[in-house]
Amino acid sequence: MKAIQLVDLQRQYKTLKKDIPSAVNKILAKGNFILGEEVADFEKNFAKYCGVKHCIGVASGTDALLLSLRALGTAPGDEVITVANTFIATVLPIIYLGAKPVLVDCDSDTYQIDPKLIEKAITRKTKVIIPVHLYGTPASMKAILKIAKKHKLYILEDACQAHGSSLAGKKCGSFGDIAAFSFYPGKNLGAAGDGGAIVTNNDLLANNVRIIRNVGQAAKYKHDLIGYNSRLDTVHAAYLNVKLKKLERWNAQRRRIAKLYHDLLTGLPLFLPPLSDKMRILNHHLYVIRTERRDELLNFLHQNNIFAGMHYPIPVHLQKSMEGLKYTNGDFPLTEKYANEILSLPMFPELTKKEVMYICRKIKEFFKNGKT
Ligand SMILES: Cc1ncc(COP(=O)(O)O)c(C=O)c1O
Repeated sequence: MKAIQLVDLQRQYKTLKKDIPSAVNKILAKGNFILGEEVADFEKNFAKYCGVKHCIGVASGTDALLLSLRALGTAPGDEVITVANTFIATVLPIIYLGAKPVLVDCDSDTYQIDPKLIEKAITRKTKVIIPVHLYGTPASMKAILKIAKKHKLYILEDACQAHGSSLAGKKCGSFGDIAAFSFYPGKNLGAAGDGGAIVTNNDLLANNVRIIRNVGQAAKYKHDLIGYNSRLDTVHAAYLNVKLKKLERWNAQRRRIAKLYHDLLTGLPLFLPPLSDKMRILNHHLYVIRTERRDELLNFLHQNNIFAGMHYPIPVHLQKSMEGLKYTNGDFPLTEKYANEILSLPMFPELTKKEVMYICRKIKEFFKNGKT
C-alpha cells in the first residue's frame, strides 16, 4: 500500500485541474489581483451557502477572528471566554487586542466548549464568547445562545474547521453575532494559500469589517478606522469559487468515510467520534479517535505508511507563549487528558474504501498483538 497522508491535496487537485487553471489565468490576464469581482462573487456565494446575509473575505482564519473581535469593539480590559481544547489561533487574536482570554474546559461527549463552565467564567468584564466547532463538530449552540442572551454577551463562532456542518438545519457560522472561517489549504474548503472569511447577519458589523480589512478605508482615500491590510486575494477567491461548488459532495464523502471508520473500528478499545444524526450534520474536518496508547499507535501507523496526526498534542494553555495567562497543568483536566490520547486518522474526500479498510486492519492488528 502506498503512503496514506492525513490530507492529500495532490489527489484533490486532480479533480480540479479542468477548471482551476482557466479561473486563475483569467485573473492573471486581467490583473485584478486586489478585490477583483471574483472576491465579491465568492462572498455572495459563501454567504448563501452559510445561510447568512454577509460574507467578507479576509487574509486568514486568524485575521477573521481578529477583525471580528475588533468589529465587536473588543479592547484592553475586556474578557473573552473560549475553550482550552482548540487551535492556538482561536486565542491569539484576543491577546493581539490587549483583551484577556478566559479559557474553560471542553465536555466529554463532543470535545467542544462545555456550556456549564461558561456561565461560571462570566464576570463584569466579559464581552464575547467564542465557541469553536472543533473537528467540524458543532458546539452546543442552543445552550450557548441562551447564556449569551441572559448576560448580554456577543458570540463569535470560530467556524474555521466547520464549513458545512449544521445543527437543526442551520449552518455553523449562522448562530452567533459573527463568525470566522479559515480557508487554510487543508480545510474542507481550502484556498491555494492562506485565506479566510467573516460571515454575519448584522449590517453594521459587516460594514465595519469591510472597512477594517481594507486599511480602514470607508471610501477611496478616506480612512475612518484603524484598519489592517487583510483582503482575500482575487486568485484565492476564484479558486474557492470553483471548490465551493464541490463542498457539499466532498462533505458527504467525508461522512461516508467516517461511517466506514466507525463500522470497522467499533468493538476495539478506542473512543470513536460522533457521527451525524437527525439534528446534527458533521463535516468531519478531522476524524479523531482516542486511546491511552496513542503514542504507540501513532508510531505503529507511521511505520505502516499511514500518516495519522494529532490535533492538538499540547493544549493552548500549556504552550510557552501562553505563560502570561498564568494557567497551569491541571486547570483543564479533560483537555489535558485528551491531548495525550487523541489521534487524527487520514480524512479527505478522495480517500478510498480500500485505504480505509487497510488503515482499520492495521489498527486491529495493533490491538490484537498488544504491539508496543
Ligand atoms: C479552530 C481554528 N481556529 C482558527 C484557525 C486559524 O485559521 P488560519 O490558519 O487560516 O489563520 C484555525 C486554522 O487552522 C483553526 O483550526
